[in-house]
Amino acid sequence: MAQYIKIADMKDHIGKTVELKGWLYNSRSGGKVLFLILRDGSGLCQAIFEKKDDLADLFQQVKHLGQESSLTVTGTVRHEPRSVGGYELAVDSVTIVHNTQDYPISHKSHGIDFLMKNRHLHLRSQRQWAIARIRHVIINAIRDYFNNNGFILVDTPIFSPAAGEGEQNLFNVDYFGDEVALSQTGQLYLEAAALSMGKAYCFGPTFRAEKSKTRRHLTEFWMVEPEACYIDIHDLMALGEGLICTIVDNSLAKCQHELDILGRDTSDLQKIKPPFVRLSYKEAVDMLHSDKVANWMDTRLQNTLDSIGQLKDQIEQWSQELASVQKQWQIDKLTSQIADGKDNLADLEELAENLPKHKELAENFKWGKDLGGSDETIISMQFDNPVFVHRYPREVKAFYMKSDPEDPSVVLNYDCLAPQGYGEIIGGSMREENYDALLGRIQALGYVQEDYQWYLDLRKYGSVPHGGFGLGVERTVAWITGVKHIRECIAFPRMMGKIYP
Ligand code: 4AD
Repeated sequence: MAQYIKIADMKDHIGKTVELKGWLYNSRSGGKVLFLILRDGSGLCQAIFEKKDDLADLFQQVKHLGQESSLTVTGTVRHEPRSVGGYELAVDSVTIVHNTQDYPISHKSHGIDFLMKNRHLHLRSQRQWAIARIRHVIINAIRDYFNNNGFILVDTPIFSPAAGEGEQNLFNVDYFGDEVALSQTGQLYLEAAALSMGKAYCFGPTFRAEKSKTRRHLTEFWMVEPEACYIDIHDLMALGEGLICTIVDNSLAKCQHELDILGRDTSDLQKIKPPFVRLSYKEAVDMLHSDKVANWMDTRLQNTLDSIGQLKDQIEQWSQELASVQKQWQIDKLTSQIADGKDNLADLEELAENLPKHKELAENFKWGKDLGGSDETIISMQFDNPVFVHRYPREVKAFYMKSDPEDPSVVLNYDCLAPQGYGEIIGGSMREENYDALLGRIQALGYVQEDYQWYLDLRKYGSVPHGGFGLGVERTVAWITGVKHIRECIAFPRMMGKIYP
């Protein structure tokens, strides 16, 4: 009997008869031969089914199988470098498990709204498959990093009686008659755990009623949060730096194939090496005001306008070719190139429109404000590595952050900005460990002291210097995969106006 194997293991079975179980990703008929592209979750492979007299009926049935039909196929493995995945199956027999017709997502380009409505099926595309696998590797790398560095996993609750990150974006739910919120962060509970474990981390979904529909914001996102005792802000930056390097190293070592599928040029990821630049908020503001940045913005605008011109010419050229080609695959390829080109063009045109506004925002940035998305992009694009911006003004940051003893107008915090404008991927800080100082912040912000009494207790019994951070998984996945919009970086994204499927 043929051994059942996964496509990814075909390399170990050359010349052997094996069975593959999967789905029909694509197929093409060449007269007496069918070229079936199978997927089985581990990869793609081409199966060559030749028409023979004894299998003529089956041949006809398989020929008319629709995309995403499920089937098992038995045959001999051959090395074939020109074939997808590098191996091919010479088919002996096929068993049809489920004949699918009219699968809604074809291999042509579809609009993103359509794909998102069909997300339950969209996940089967090569692109989504690749993103999901990279996400998996990133999450494993994160877990390994903390597990190997002495952190204990502690799961924190999702129903929370009080806000952890300000009250503006809470999702309230009815909890047996009481109004409670879905957790924005596990941090406050994790601080309690860290005072028990020394070092702890939590990893789970977090919720923010973000009314913005940006590429960087979800209402439900996954965050890993480490918390450690007896550390300082320098240790905390080193911890974040180590985590990011581990994520990058693992992604490059284990996901080259997936990154290739996404067309991700990894040369910039290969440049990621510690130490990352540490920039105080004040230095970041000076940078935004500098002539260097103003000139850089002008050059960027000019380059964007040049790219728009080139892309328009290219789309025009593809459109002319489209009018003259006959073969369906050529028509499909050009149609998809044109659709992608138009998407990119729309992005570039939006960028060209925004750059002058972003330049003005940067020039007029006032000390004391939080950095906006465009400011973060400008700063991050001055560096190859991620960059830490530390010591933000007290007023724009959360109540629990510790003031800098050398300048109480700022706090001992940092945001880590990913390169290439992917924005903030880590936010962290040292925590206010003094009871009275923390109570003062809680009262100044008008929070109900009772809600935070347990948290204040941590400053009453064996208080120590401690700190931690949160890394957003989807933003990190977006950066590593080079995917523009965070909605593709989680299987079923939740955003304002998006809850189905
Ligand atoms: O900076 P934030 O709000 O930090 C905290 O929640 C702290 N309590 C963490 C801690 O110190 N333990 O969020 C941390 C990270 C951000 O850097 C970003 O990567 C991600 O969470 N994030 C979001 N990701 C997607 N959609 C959103 N709406 C996000 N808001 C934050």
